[in-house]
Amino acid sequence: MSIRIAAVVGARPEFVQVGTLARAFPAYTGRIDPILIHTGQHYDANMSQDFFDRLGLPRPDHTLGVGSGGQGVQTGQMLALLDPLLQELEPDVVIVFGDTNSTLAGALAAAKLHIPVAHVESGLRSFNLRMPEEVNRRLTDHMASILFCPSPNAVANLASEGITDGIHLTGDVMFESLQHTLALVGDGRTVLDSFGLVPGSYALATVHRSENTDDPERLSQIVLGLADVGADGLEVIFPVHPRTRQRLDRGLAASGVRMIDPVGHPEAMALARDAAVVLTDSGGLQKETYWLGTPCVTMRDETEWVETVEAGWNRLAGADRNAILQATRFMTAGNLPERVALYGEGTKVSHAILDALIEDLERMEKAS
Ligand code: UD1
Repeated sequence: MSIRIAAVVGARPEFVQVGTLARAFPAYTGRIDPILIHTGQHYDANMSQDFFDRLGLPRPDHTLGVGSGGQGVQTGQMLALLDPLLQELEPDVVIVFGDTNSTLAGALAAAKLHIPVAHVESGLRSFNLRMPEEVNRRLTDHMASILFCPSPNAVANLASEGITDGIHLTGDVMFESLQHTLALVGDGRTVLDSFGLVPGSYALATVHRSENTDDPERLSQIVLGLADVGADGLEVIFPVHPRTRQRLDRGLAASGVRMIDPVGHPEAMALARDAAVVLTDSGGLQKETYWLGTPCVTMRDETEWVETVEAGWNRLAGADRNAILQATRFMTAGNLPERVALYGEGTKVSHAILDALIEDLERMEKAS
């Protein structure tokens, strides 16, 4: 009998993550029966549909159309819609990814219905509970019975919270997605040409975390820092997330910073690969830049991806104008350490996850 797996996704990084598993599904035909549920957290074409089309994702089997809202309202609306849907679908497991409101809602709806929860990208911690993502990932880990960790640090974080069962150290699904995306991008010249950019001559910037966008002082420091980088000689190209666009006082936009609409994942990877440096508050980009061999400056006070900092390819600059400029200068001065393989780089993480998932569910089934 095949195992019915309901995957709940809603935001950009989850589309990338589930894409890696979806491309492995055909190898498991007859053993698994996947169902894709899109909460609708991200809904603009360039935040959602474009990712499905370009990543070759199957169309969602169910779309909830929740849209935007306050943290609690958005999560609550997802719960209200997921509860009856999961009762109707009766999946053997609900799989969720990362740390968004869709992750928490998927896990909570399943846990309340006594459906096992599997969590991909488990065990990450920023130890900053003011971040909605930290709340989401902590709670999800405590509801999950199958946990896929990208690194030994993640396993240790879970152990320190008393979670020791059902853990699999598989590595991170995003390395595989990056390989897939790079194959789509080719040499990336079309992307760079379309923005009139020359490899190595620009910085790519992204800012969307609520801790940065919703605090005017932090956002102002970041934009001034980006302008300083621009004035220092590196053109800054800045695809602006809709949340950031709403908050950004246009008056802050300083010369040398080129604001553009959000770009698709292939374009983002082409831009990141050929950038002199990436300045970001994204979690995904901290890993992707590492794998691409592009130095990264993280505009946050802490990171969950501590290994990239320890490896010498990522620097925390907080939301401090001067620190952003200094970190950028340091990271672009050259002499970066030899890269080591991180987060399961080079292995088939998607297969490791699906194999472990099937094995655990069969064991649970026998035990019940
Ligand atoms: C969410 C995740 C974050 C992830 C990010 C990736 C949570 C708590 N955060 O943040 O971890 O890194 O996605 O992008 O789940 N908006 C649009 N169009 C859209 C989507 C959003 O205009 O298609 C605007 C809305 O005004 C919305 C705001 O962006 O209120 C924020 O969107 P939301 O989904 O709440 O959080 P993100 O900042 O995208």
